[in-house]
Amino acid sequence: MGADTDRADEWHERVPAIDDGSLIVVSNRQPYTHTYEDAEAAENGETEGNDRTIGINRPAGGLTAGLDPVLQRTDGTWIAWGDGDADEVVTDPDGTIRMPPEDPSYTLKRVWLTDQEVEEYYYGYSNRVLWPLCHGGVWQTDFADEHWQQYRAVNRKFAEATVEQAEAESLVWFQDYHFALAPRMVRAEVPEAFCMHFWHITWPGWDTFRACPQYRELLDGLLGNDLLGFHTERYCENFIDCVEETFEEAFVDREGNRIHYGDHATAIRAFPMGVDAASVRRASKSVGTDFWAEFKGKYGISGDTVALGVDRLDYTKGITERLAALEEFWESRPEWRGELTYIQKANESRSLIPEYQDLQSDVTEAVSRINDRFATAEWQPVVYLTDFLPQEELCGLYRFSDVMLVSAVRDGMNLVAKEYVAAQVDSDGVLVLSDQTGAYEELGEHALTINPYDTEGFVSTIDTALAMDEGERAERMNALREQVESHDLVAWMNEVFDTANELEEARNDPGDGDDASAI
Ligand code: G6P
Repeated sequence: MGADTDRADEWHERVPAIDDGSLIVVSNRQPYTHTYEDAEAAENGETEGNDRTIGINRPAGGLTAGLDPVLQRTDGTWIAWGDGDADEVVTDPDGTIRMPPEDPSYTLKRVWLTDQEVEEYYYGYSNRVLWPLCHGGVWQTDFADEHWQQYRAVNRKFAEATVEQAEAESLVWFQDYHFALAPRMVRAEVPEAFCMHFWHITWPGWDTFRACPQYRELLDGLLGNDLLGFHTERYCENFIDCVEETFEEAFVDREGNRIHYGDHATAIRAFPMGVDAASVRRASKSVGTDFWAEFKGKYGISGDTVALGVDRLDYTKGITERLAALEEFWESRPEWRGELTYIQKANESRSLIPEYQDLQSDVTEAVSRINDRFATAEWQPVVYLTDFLPQEELCGLYRFSDVMLVSAVRDGMNLVAKEYVAAQVDSDGVLVLSDQTGAYEELGEHALTINPYDTEGFVSTIDTALAMDEGERAERMNALREQVESHDLVAWMNEVFDTANELEEARNDPGDGDDASAI
């Protein structure tokens, strides 16, 4: 509780000024979810009438946890899909509920989605079209028309919910690929509101993006924003290329990073997102070597050296490529058998999609194959963890692992790499990082880097990581920590809000600009 209060105070001090009531965040996932805790008992007919136990899931980390105090401080509005099974019974008839429960200080507006909407908008267009497309996996897309129709309809639903809450002074912040169309829809109704969007995943090159039958509509929707943010300059350039190829009438000001299209301009900016480094550092410091001994005992980790991977089970994360490199490593370096244990922490994700089911079975098969091949009576090479780990335990795992393996085949940023670094309070771990991640741009100089498809190179980099002396480990990790701490989540939000403020001022006072293009 003490640490939470410190954190809230720290955030309140550092987050930039936003006018009260003006911020509206729109995201697919909600910050708080109400769920029945007695679902099993209810199924067995052991609960009576309305006498059910409801629990609340709170923001556990990342952007949701970061934005929550901002919304609290400014009494803003958060619009999101109400996906909890008990959400509806606790929410007012207009879909709103004041949050957080112990100190209601902002409005959470829940948007209800039918099973069919979830199937076609969330699983369908968002995760079987935009997700693979943006990560360069054109062959993994499923461009079914009903997915597209539903994506448009659900974007309209969210746009309507936003318009209900928005005023001329509002600052509307859309999150991610679930809402490419909503900004244009909101702009049509509340043209004075400032709309911005952060696209949390990669933006692909034109040659990939043009495979999408709806590329025009998607670009048009996003150009309804005043500000559009990506993690890296490369994604900004890719986006600008796509617009140039699509709309002859668009005027692209590459130097000013602006696109003029219709009667409106959109600023395109790179904002590499950070993690809540202070909270990760604190959680990491709160666990000691006794935690590690206990953890190793609990999961039967007998090797002295530990390599770690922490991923949502997604085909972009390069988990099978990593396991292939590890298998080759133990094959070609028998001296490491019995010595190096690899822990794979995996979070199940989007399991209704066949590609995700395939990945899950590929990963479990690879883990059992490796364990069958190399395990001894005292040692198991791969420990596969699907249990939920509280933040302290996850950070402890980061802290005490000797090597972190991040081998995504494509990733907009990869915040796990940054969390590992933030948790390295003893500066004695080594980060092995894929050059296919957004994080590579910032951390590539001091991490050991790999191409996840180059198994031989990956194997020898694991070797280099394990052989690295203490001095070099500390030197590299201190440089990485400096970068991650100084470019943390609050710094990122500051940059986004400061840029929004500047653009909004310029838009409202165009006389200041040196040409008519000032927003
Ligand atoms: C990625 C996306 C997020 C998404 C998260 C988890 O990081 O950029 O928008 O929330 O994956 O995926 P899920 O489909 O469970 O929300």
